[in-house]
Amino acid sequence: MNDQLLRLVQAMPKAELHIHIEGSLEPELIFALAQRNGVKLAYGSVEELRRAYAFTDLQSFLDIYYAGASVLLHEQDFYDMTAAYLQRAQQDNVRHAEIFFDPQTHTARGVPFEAVISGIHRACQDSPVSATLIMCFLRHLPEEDAMATLEMALPFRDKFIGVGLDSSELGHPPEKFARVYERCRSLGLHLVAHAGEEGPPEYIRNALDVLKVERIDHGVRCLEDAELTARLARERIALTVCPLSNVKLRVFDEIGGHNLLALLDAGLTVTINSDDPAYFGGYLNENYDAVFRALPLTRFHAQQLARDSFNASFLDSGAKARLLAEVDAFFAEHA
Ligand code: ADE
Ligand code: ZN
Repeated sequence: MNDQLLRLVQAMPKAELHIHIEGSLEPELIFALAQRNGVKLAYGSVEELRRAYAFTDLQSFLDIYYAGASVLLHEQDFYDMTAAYLQRAQQDNVRHAEIFFDPQTHTARGVPFEAVISGIHRACQDSPVSATLIMCFLRHLPEEDAMATLEMALPFRDKFIGVGLDSSELGHPPEKFARVYERCRSLGLHLVAHAGEEGPPEYIRNALDVLKVERIDHGVRCLEDAELTARLARERIALTVCPLSNVKLRVFDEIGGHNLLALLDAGLTVTINSDDPAYFGGYLNENYDAVFRALPLTRFHAQQLARDSFNASFLDSGAKARLLAEVDAFFAEHA
């Protein structure tokens, strides 16, 4: 692999569109917050916690991810977590991030919704990186809980731009959330959903047809269905792909076996993202680095991935145009 290309990929301006803010909680911060808040953890040390990060599938990860999030109690905790992520993102030349948060993980423990959203939102406002919020519903819980969460969120409607769907995918198909997504659509919120990470192509199709989402989070299993793949390409539905996550959660055995290049070759709009960087071994540039080392990707792919990270974002057309011009100027300068 060509070091010059790897350096280019690190330095290019980019957007991150699939990052769960609770998945950016590093073990050191988990222990610091546990101490600050008097929360007892099931792990004795940072090292012991890190050793537990040996996942076999999505559910084995989620169990530890929700345990880690249990140290978040006060607005300042949410602020500190988000500020740490944005500082790290800035180092990776992230110009814009659309950040997922899981309010139900916190409100179920008695944390006020306002503490969650205000802490995360204030950190976004204080950062030089442009950042907006997407509220996710936990799909293993009933749709009524999602609807109640939406009602709780409405007084803070100006603090988030859209909704998503995450947590355990298998057995919880998109259509379970048809009514809450319909309501979100009527409110003018942007719509995304995790689909086709562990779930079948049918979940991707139903996320599009029933939930009417604008992007698919993960979506890597679309290639099992040629008709669906052609449709995603034709309709320019972006997939927010998370390479290191896919290897850690055994969607692919190894990074060299990832289907990222096949997705690009099928004409799909693909973006690279970190998902839960504290748990999966790397932030955004580490995800780019892994795929550029393992797959025969070129500088043309790099420019396309950077451009599409902004194209697929929910930025307004003026901001998109400015950032796309920044990408093109960067590549012209490094010809
Ligand atoms: N929550 C955090 N990360 C997730 C993932 N990769 N899939 C589903 N839910 C999640
Ligand atoms: Zn995710």
